[in-house]
Amino acid sequence: MRLTVIGTGYVGAVHAACMAELGHEVLGVDVDAERIGALAAGRPPFYEPGLSAMLKSAVDSRRLRFTTSLTEAAWFADTHFVCVGTPQRADSGASDLRHVEAAVDGLAPYLPGSGYERVLVVGKSTVPVGTADRLAGRLRALAPDVDIAWNPEFLREGRAVRDTLRPERIVVGVRSVHAERRLREIYAPLLADGTRFIVTEPATAELVKLASNSFLATKISFINAMAEICDATGADVCTLAEAMGADSRIGPSFLAPGLGFGGSCLPKDIRAFAARAEELGLGASVVLLHQVDEINTRQRRRVVDLAERMVGGDFRDHGVAVLGASFKPHSDDVRDSPALDVADAVRRRGARVRVHDPEAVDNARAAHPELQFALDVAKACEQADVVLHLTEWPQYRELDPAALAAVVRTPALVDARNVLDPVAWRAAGWTLCAPGRPRLG
Ligand code: UDX
Repeated sequence: MRLTVIGTGYVGAVHAACMAELGHEVLGVDVDAERIGALAAGRPPFYEPGLSAMLKSAVDSRRLRFTTSLTEAAWFADTHFVCVGTPQRADSGASDLRHVEAAVDGLAPYLPGSGYERVLVVGKSTVPVGTADRLAGRLRALAPDVDIAWNPEFLREGRAVRDTLRPERIVVGVRSVHAERRLREIYAPLLADGTRFIVTEPATAELVKLASNSFLATKISFINAMAEICDATGADVCTLAEAMGADSRIGPSFLAPGLGFGGSCLPKDIRAFAARAEELGLGASVVLLHQVDEINTRQRRRVVDLAERMVGGDFRDHGVAVLGASFKPHSDDVRDSPALDVADAVRRRGARVRVHDPEAVDNARAAHPELQFALDVAKACEQADVVLHLTEWPQYRELDPAALAAVVRTPALVDARNVLDPVAWRAAGWTLCAPGRPRLG
């Protein structure tokens, strides 16, 4: 089938490459000519395991092409996926829908009228509930025969290709049998593999995304609130999480205590969800989300305070090594990165900070030019008074604590992700601390 993917950011670039991998003929569209140039040459504009090879093979076989022209897009296919960003508005927690509206308004005038195979616009962007119906009204004025559906994505950065080609569910919000049929055809290879296909109306589809991300964020903040209780009572949050997660009704995932969540989705989505509920007069139903956000922000401060206590209560004249800059491992994305937030807070309190990350240094430097960066861990740790482990890249688990003890000034470690082996580090002479584990040191 022929389809277009409008917006080639994270979601769009992955979706376009994966749809080509499924055998479709795909045209990727973006207003950013530089990005389109890179993609057309087979180069993804960000680090994502597996994407580069898939993109290159799709481009080489010409199943995937790119353009900046919405006119070309309108003529190319009769299914258009809208994957543009919905950032947080500058003046509130609400979603900024400018890019979604621009994509739909830009495409509509060129869409063929009746007499052609019915055109379907499929939204994938994360939007406030009610957006699809509002856009349908807007589209009707410009292109009366065009149908609209919503098909949220649930991909995780670092696993985006796998999440797209082997999803746990596909949710489609449709208003017509024709739209459902078209989406079943597009995803046919995945449905043949047994992927669950949930068909509903657009409002529910929009809500599934926001409710799912809000639930994941709530789980993380819940265990981090428990970490605060553990700190005050001498209990251990890791054992607590393990024991809670062993209950199959609770489950172990998204129950890892530590520095909390960041990235381009979870923080923005809970705020947008709360803002939309308030707009609907339903603030009381989502009051929990404000607390989830607050607990999450507090974890960053708690780690800064923990580190400050480890250097004797004053960061000035102290060296701090930071391990990790991306918002999570296997990603070079630093948007709302808890690690960089902590690194910068420590710097502002007077420490000399040096940051290491296996993939995200370029993005981190662009976002925080005032921080210093090191290309290897030993260099970052040279003469440090405390080492902060802030993003749990697997290679940090392989570090040799004895070798690192030889390069720092004081062997003191804050494991803010609660994944390093305390026995091995202590045996090599390190003093340790971690949120929610007051008896660790
Ligand atoms: C998230 C959703 O998981 C995905 O379904 C949606 O499509 C987009 O938003 P992503 O932002 O890629 O994906 O990251 P995710 O893996 O969910 O992690 C989010 C943050 O939570 C990271 O900062 C991570 O370090 C943190 N986290 C995750 C925890 O602090 N504890 C956990 O137990 C799990």
